[in-house]
Formats: sequence, C-alpha cells, structure tokens
Amino acid sequence: MTQIAVLGSTNMDLVAYVERAPQLGETVTGREFRTVPGGKGANQAIAAARAGATVSMIGAVGHDAYGVRMRETLEHSGVDTDSLRTIDCPSGTAHIVVDDEGGNAIVVIPGANGTVDHLAPGDEGVIASADTLLLQLEIPLPAVVAGAEAARRHGVRTILTPSPTRTLPSELLDNIDLLVANEREAAALADRADPRDAAADLLGLVPQVVVTLGAAGSLYLTRDAAPLVIPAPRVTAVDSTGAGDTFVGALAVALAEEKPIREALSWAAAAAALAVQREGASTSMPYRPEIEAQYTA
Ligand code: RIB
Repeated sequence: MTQIAVLGSTNMDLVAYVERAPQLGETVTGREFRTVPGGKGANQAIAAARAGATVSMIGAVGHDAYGVRMRETLEHSGVDTDSLRTIDCPSGTAHIVVDDEGGNAIVVIPGANGTVDHLAPGDEGVIASADTLLLQLEIPLPAVVAGAEAARRHGVRTILTPSPTRTLPSELLDNIDLLVANEREAAALADRADPRDAAADLLGLVPQVVVTLGAAGSLYLTRDAAPLVIPAPRVTAVDSTGAGDTFVGALAVALAEEKPIREALSWAAAAAALAVQREGASTSMPYRPEIEAQYTA
C-alpha cells in the first residue's frame, strides 16, 4: 500500500449555503448552515486515505469540540492522527459561503494551525517513511519549508498546493517536485492571466506543474515532454469546496502507485468530479470503488 504524509491544516468549515454571495456592505438571507470538518491539509489526507493510501496527518487542532470532531473524522477515514497535536487554543475555522452555482468564497482563521511553525520531534520520521508528502499553505511557511526539506533529504516526492496564495521562497520551491494550482492561484503566483502562460512560467520554478481548470479539466506541464490537457467528466456541481483537495489526494495516490501521468490525472479528475456533486469538504470525498467506477481511461 502506498504511504502518504500530509503536513498542513485542519479547519472546521462553517458553511452558509446561499442563492448568491453578498457583496461587501450587503446582507443576504441564506438557505442552510452546516459545520463540516475541512482544512486543506485534512481534506487532502482524507481524500488520499479514501482513495486507497495509508495516510499520516501532521498538524494541530485546538482543545475544543471542533478539534475532537476533526480528529474523529480523520480517524474514521483511516488517517493516522498520532502526529496531529492538540493545542490549548481554538481550532482553525473556515467561514465559507457556497452559492447555488456551487462556487465558494472562504475566509480562514488559523487558530491551532498557526502554532504549526516547525517540525516536532518524530515528524521527520513520519515524512521519511512516506512515498509522498502533501503540502499546502494554511500553516506557517517555516514549517512548510522544513517539511519540504525533510522530504528531499529522504527522497520523498513533494506535492505543493500554493493556497492561500503568497510569495514562495526558493528554499521551498527548490524542494517541490510537483505544484498543483487552480487557475486563480497559478495566475497570482506567475502574475500572468492565461493559465498556459502561468503554467509555463511556473515550470521555471518547479519541475512539474498541474493547473486545474474546473469543468475544463487540467493542464500538465513538465520540462521534458509536451504539455497535456486532461478533460474532466461532465457533471453538475453543487459545491466545489474541497474538490481541489480531493484532486490532489487522489493524484498523489495514483502517482505513488506509479500510474502513468495521463491516467493519474484522469483518475484525480474522476475523484474531483464526484466531490463537486456533493456538499461539504470531507463529506464529499469519494472512496476508491466510487473513483474506479467514475474513471474512464
Ligand atoms: O480547500 C477547501 C478548504 O479550504 C476548506 O475545507 C476550508 O477549510 C479551507 O481551508
């Protein structure tokens, strides 16, 4: 079985479902409110575990009911939480508005995630025993850099989701094998509007780049082969929250299983297509048999 380590955030998602998101200064009445375990790190861990990997989550939750529920959710999906610390502060929260088109806007309050600013004793061992380390940017940058450096020391593949977007130092980029960004993130990082131009520029920073294009699929660039455009299954989206994390978790599993890149990207697209048809982050992530049924070569 493939082994994935995730170094990143856990958040309780506080989700308001609305017909349309409010403008600044405007009040709208929503349809429904839900609390759903999320956070980009935890989401990727759950997605990878459900896709068939053995997964360890490195991070922190707060000493509150949200922290208890997030740990339980990870464990119910089969994620090892021995390296998920409980800190005496509030858990991270994400304040999310989801509209009737399935689009979302998110504000994250880091809480306990903000204390994850270094690797704790034992974390490097967890990373060293993995095939792949998944990283995002919802914990302090020094820990993300330390994780990527540890992975490189032990020959572990690194996949970075550059979200929330920020300027990335060379100590991080030099230790990343694959960057997976959505169109908006790629455009912001490369300061280019067109996803193809952005991806081409980002290829100057890391050896492989995937830009996810929503319903239009994904674009893959590497330095030694022609670009690939991989279509996504046609589905009706009800909630895109966590779909990008589902894509990354499933992609990591497929690559660790040594599926060819085209197949791995289609497999990840199948997983994400299932996720967007369901509400919530962790609640939307498919299990391996569902991905196999949705996947078409
Ligand atoms: O990528 C989706 C995630 O972003 C949500 O679960 C939310 O917690 C924010 O971190």
